[in-house]
Amino acid sequence: MKYPIASLFVRPWTLSGISPELIESHYEVNYGGTVNRLNAIVEQLDCLDRTTTPPEVIHRLKRDEFTALNSMLLHELYFSSIGGDGRAVPAEMTAALTRDFGSVNRWRDEFIGLAGSLAATGGAGWVLLTYVPRDGRLINHVATDDGHAIAGGIPVLAIDMYEHAYHIDFGANCTAYIAAFMRNIDWKTVEQRTQNAAKVAPPPKLVQPEFADMSSVTVEDVEAMLKSGQRVQIIDARPRHYITKAMDMMDGAVWRDPERMDDWIGELSKDDPVVTFCVYGFHIGCQTAVALRDRGFDAKYMTGGHFGWKAKKGAMKLMES
Ligand SMILES: [Fe+2]
Repeated sequence: MKYPIASLFVRPWTLSGISPELIESHYEVNYGGTVNRLNAIVEQLDCLDRTTTPPEVIHRLKRDEFTALNSMLLHELYFSSIGGDGRAVPAEMTAALTRDFGSVNRWRDEFIGLAGSLAATGGAGWVLLTYVPRDGRLINHVATDDGHAIAGGIPVLAIDMYEHAYHIDFGANCTAYIAAFMRNIDWKTVEQRTQNAAKVAPPPKLVQPEFADMSSVTVEDVEAMLKSGQRVQIIDARPRHYITKAMDMMDGAVWRDPERMDDWIGELSKDDPVVTFCVYGFHIGCQTAVALRDRGFDAKYMTGGHFGWKAKKGAMKLMES
């Protein structure tokens, strides 16, 4: 595909403390150069004979394509991040920043701090405010080399910290450039981007329709229960054929053969909750919890199972012999 040059989003003459000359140079030389470079790379890739081209050539071109594409996208975001009154943060954006950073000021301090640290360490790149649909939250982060984007994240605000973004007006005075950028943030557009990003559904979660009505607890829930000293009966219900080869188990759990429930159910108390789990958190742990609930116990299964607990770095012990 051929990437078109996007029109300049910001009206340069409206900016406070940032000259039209700087924006013109940035747009024409750097943004335009990036789009032209990207199109040249794409053309090269399109013309390659995949059967005869050395893999390292394709690798280099794909890496260059990624860098140029990200640079183009981030420049377009940058030029639409400014052009407003940076002090007037709209209500919904204030609520989102307060939710994820504690307050607008705390967000601002972190964002400015990141931009300043990039300049102070001689680095160059971007500082981005990005919405992550997986978690439904905003995060500030640094993106150097026109890369380092958060997978699945949607950046909603960008400051360009490459020297070409400020040296015409500010020389080496990055602090003044960052302050001018903050004064000119177009919050209405940033808010609109954030609202659009929030409509993106998070990635699909594991669903087990056959256990949809069954109560579960996460490994984090179980860890919190144990830390709080809450009495809980934890049953490792991994199948016998699996357990004979297992080396370790969750500390605080006892292994019980899920196929011989009648042999051990008498040990359990109905006064305290029961948590069951299997290897990965699929059928056996769920079925054991269902069977215990049918017998009147307050039983839930632990999502993620044995390996979920290990991935959380929960306490482990060697298998009982
Ligand atoms: Fe730039």
